[in-house]
Amino acid sequence: MKTLTLLSSLIIIVSVSLCKANHRSEGGGFTVDLIHRDSPLSPLYNPTYARSDRLQNAFLRSVSRASGLSKRAGFASKIDADISVIPGEYVMRIQIGNPPVEVVGVADTGSDLTWAQCQPCKHCYKQAGLPFLQPNASSTYRAVSCQSKACEALEGNRYGCSSGNVCEYGIRYGDLSYTKGDLANDTFWFGSTPLKNVAFGCGHDNNGSFPDDASGIIGLGDGPLSIINQLNDTIQGKFSYCLVSALTNSSNVTGKIHFGDHALVSGPDVVSTPLKLTIPPTYYYVVLEHVSVGNRKLPYKSTTDIGLDVENVIIDSGTTVTIVGQEFYDELTAALTEAIGGNSTLPDPTGMFDFCYKDLDLGRVPNVTFSFTGADVELPPENTFIQVQKGVSCFTIVGSDGIAIFGNLLQQNLLVGFDLVNKMVSFRPTDCRNHS
Ligand SMILES: *[C@@H]1O[C@H](CO)[C@@H](O)[C@H](O)[C@H]1NC(C)=O
Ligand SMILES: *[C@@H]1O[C@H](CO)[C@@H](O)[C@H](O)[C@H]1NC(C)=O
Ligand SMILES: *[C@@H]1O[C@H](CO)[C@@H](O)[C@H](O)[C@H]1NC(C)=O
Ligand SMILES: *[C@@H]1O[C@H](CO)[C@@H](O)[C@H](O)[C@H]1NC(C)=O
Ligand SMILES: *[C@@H]1O[C@H](CO)[C@@H](O)[C@H](O)[C@H]1NC(C)=O
Ligand SMILES: *[C@@H]1O[C@H](CO)[C@@H](O)[C@H](O)[C@H]1NC(C)=O
Ligand SMILES: *[C@@H]1O[C@H](CO)[C@@H](O)[C@H](O)[C@H]1NC(C)=O
Ligand SMILES: *[C@@H]1O[C@H](CO)[C@@H](O)[C@H](O)[C@H]1NC(C)=O
Repeated sequence: MKTLTLLSSLIIIVSVSLCKANHRSEGGGFTVDLIHRDSPLSPLYNPTYARSDRLQNAFLRSVSRASGLSKRAGFASKIDADISVIPGEYVMRIQIGNPPVEVVGVADTGSDLTWAQCQPCKHCYKQAGLPFLQPNASSTYRAVSCQSKACEALEGNRYGCSSGNVCEYGIRYGDLSYTKGDLANDTFWFGSTPLKNVAFGCGHDNNGSFPDDASGIIGLGDGPLSIINQLNDTIQGKFSYCLVSALTNSSNVTGKIHFGDHALVSGPDVVSTPLKLTIPPTYYYVVLEHVSVGNRKLPYKSTTDIGLDVENVIIDSGTTVTIVGQEFYDELTAALTEAIGGNSTLPDPTGMFDFCYKDLDLGRVPNVTFSFTGADVELPPENTFIQVQKGVSCFTIVGSDGIAIFGNLLQQNLLVGFDLVNKMVSFRPTDCRNHS
């Protein structure tokens, strides 16, 4: 049952969003709230669930996701290449159909196709508190044909063609979980903003360790079926998010995800780095040049030949910890040990992290700066250390070979903006608790 605990505990539920369309002629924008599952605002808030359990679960998922992303990015055998990893960190609430039906989907920057459980269910996993979609109840639902562009765009996730010429999708996940169903078009609602003819997976056969408080997954990757690309006419490749973490503070606050005109990241303290869109698409790669501990600069080296030119890190909202190559990790922690002083490091009593301190005074921890090409992102100790139990704080970066991932604990209190048209990722230090 470990897997189930893992998945269900990681969800971060999103509150109902109230977002008004921006009706400017050359575009528009909308904003959706993100609430951590652990927030008292979440209907699933369980005050008895220990924070350390949540952290442990998030950690385990990060490691498995990293390994899955590495596989998908082509570092392992071809057989694994189309196996995705179930994301699970942040969830957003949208509506699909006419009349609109609420769908809570895991917001995933690491996948493209959005899907939700649909009736009739050949098999549907238990879904708490939300109705399944009913295609026959939506006046705007249209199954997509096998000859359509959208069907072609499924590529490895194309499952077959039904006798009625309906395009069928299928996605397998690393732990034998899967979703299968019809590719369809319907209206998506972001708050009061309707967007017509969005292709998504209407999943009639879904099983495995999906979070039971989500109806499916919302794909925010850069592939053609991602909502980012499908909504391009409206949002022009722009979205941004500001993450609050309930791992460090399960308070009554929400994060935000913005699209289109609402997603601009501007101001004097914004830094930007080129976004490297690769083939096959999906992940948001950037180039990490060095990491500084205080004033000490450590050139970044990937420890694996990842088969890409220079892009060496994925920015991912769905992974909790940050993962760097093992050799670089050793250098980084050596530099930190020196900077922090003393010899009080200890192994993490929970077994997750390698680099922890007892009674760490955060005031002794220097800022750690991730220098992406052209963008120095300075991270205060509140991002780089997390208290795993009373009196024990661990470094939120871990070492593991494979593709590196800039995870969501480091992204806390940064407004992170993606612009797929101008191919830039921007960062601005922001108090996400007060950001609207
Ligand atoms: C729609 O389909 C569901 C089963 O998938 C069925 O229970 C329901 O009666 C149908 N509704 C209509 C209006 O046909
Ligand atoms: C689905 O939507 C696309 C536009 O997004 C449109 O080109 C296509 O014809 C639609 N398919 C159906 C079956 O409605
Ligand atoms: C669903 O998955 C579980 C394991 O996750 C398995 O035990 C069960 O047999 C599966 N059910 C179906 C209908 O495939
Ligand atoms: C998205 O829209 C922008 C602006 O209209 C355009 O330049 C760009 O090519 C579009 N991108 C895609 C993938 O269609
Ligand atoms: C948690 O958030 C609340 C409300 O925003 C704030 O008052 C409190 O200081 C925070 N606690 C910690 C430990 O950061
Ligand atoms: C959370 O915020 C809402 C509205 O902002 C407020 O009504 C509610 O009392 C707050 N709950 C807690 C536990 O602080
Ligand atoms: C370092 O740790 C060792 C073993 O716990 C201890 O004997 C020594 O006094 C410590 N030194 C400092 C400077 O804290
Ligand atoms: C550390 O980084 C934070 C966030 O960018 C910044 O506000 C703070 O001034 C920095 N602290 C030091 C000592 O440079």
